Amino acid sequence: DARGRASVRARAGARSRANALVTTSEYKVAVLGAAGGIGQSLSLLLKMNPLISDLRLYDLANTPGVAADLSHTNTGCKVTGFMGADQLEDALKGCDLVVIPAGVPRKPGMTRDDLFAINAGIVRDLCQACTKACPNALINIISNPVNSTVPIATEVFKKAGCYDARKIFGVTTLDIVRSNTFVAEAKGLDINDVDVPVIGGHAGITILPLLSQTYPKCEFTSDEIEKLTVRIQNAGTEVVEAKAGAGSATLSMAYAAARMAEACLRGLSGEPDVYECTYVASNVTELPFFATKVRLGPNGAEEVLPIGDISAYEADWLAKLKVELTGSIEKGMAFVNN
Ligand code: NAD
Ligand code: LMR
Repeated sequence: DARGRASVRARAGARSRANALVTTSEYKVAVLGAAGGIGQSLSLLLKMNPLISDLRLYDLANTPGVAADLSHTNTGCKVTGFMGADQLEDALKGCDLVVIPAGVPRKPGMTRDDLFAINAGIVRDLCQACTKACPNALINIISNPVNSTVPIATEVFKKAGCYDARKIFGVTTLDIVRSNTFVAEAKGLDINDVDVPVIGGHAGITILPLLSQTYPKCEFTSDEIEKLTVRIQNAGTEVVEAKAGAGSATLSMAYAAARMAEACLRGLSGEPDVYECTYVASNVTELPFFATKVRLGPNGAEEVLPIGDISAYEADWLAKLKVELTGSIEKGMAFVNN
């Protein structure tokens, strides 16, 4: 009857309102560079994540406005803005996860390594603050050049005597997100079902999609392999050129960083079988840092998985990328130690 239907509708309404305020919140997360292109979109996505109870937004300027704006969204996560270096340690205190998209982005014609001169010092200083305020937090580094900023973060934590190789991650998730999108489009696959591992690092030829390991199993012509590999390696530049001087990928990066942050938190929560490709301290090759699939758990990177079987084409790229990646790693380590 009408009363019954109204009561069903009321219960459904209550349920959907409850869903908007899911109550499993638990973790404290800081975004450093939160007022930037990536930082703002990423903060919105994290504010919507029911695993996060306390979101701290840190930047040199504009965080009070971003935090006030975000704080009006009715999700069960508290958001606080912190501005300027003297508020940095307060922003970090007690954090389980720190996500770092602070620093300058590329303009057309630049390589990611051209950002080193400015971003290396930014990442070093932010990580130094982490060693003091939240030495056990997981650190997700987005700031480029990731191939060097992860070694920089590592050296900073070593110097401070609180280094744990399982806790520092270079965020390469955007390379996986792009590979999945491009492969699904090229092969007419269900986008929700595609998984392409991407290994190596995060710059040009150091980005190596393993199309031979695509899930679901997929046949590619050699022309398709060449075109997809090169497009994935140059996808960041594709966006930089399309934005024509207004920066690099921000929205797709925020999406990718939110996925990586969630994977880290699900791992921390003890959920089994959480895997992401990410650039970490690694024994998988002779290089001290390398991106492969990693199992995330209560301590961070619990297991760094091997490369697995690869094609002759991929082996060729692997040999080439190791040369460039070695240089970027050494440059990052020298920056902190010399
Ligand atoms: P942006 O200029 O829009 O934002 C950067 C923010 O960092 C700004 O708000 C700025 O005030 C802040 N910042 C600068 N120095 C800081 C400091 N010392 N402490 C705190 N905040 C500081 O740039 P963006 O587009 O958001 O890109 C940020 C970085 O992310 C760039 O280095 C870019 O190359 C990198 N990036 C990485 C990936 C990846 O896949 N890993 C993808 C896209 C962009
Ligand atoms: C990307 O891959 O989009 C980022 O690393 C930003 C860039 O400079 O390309």
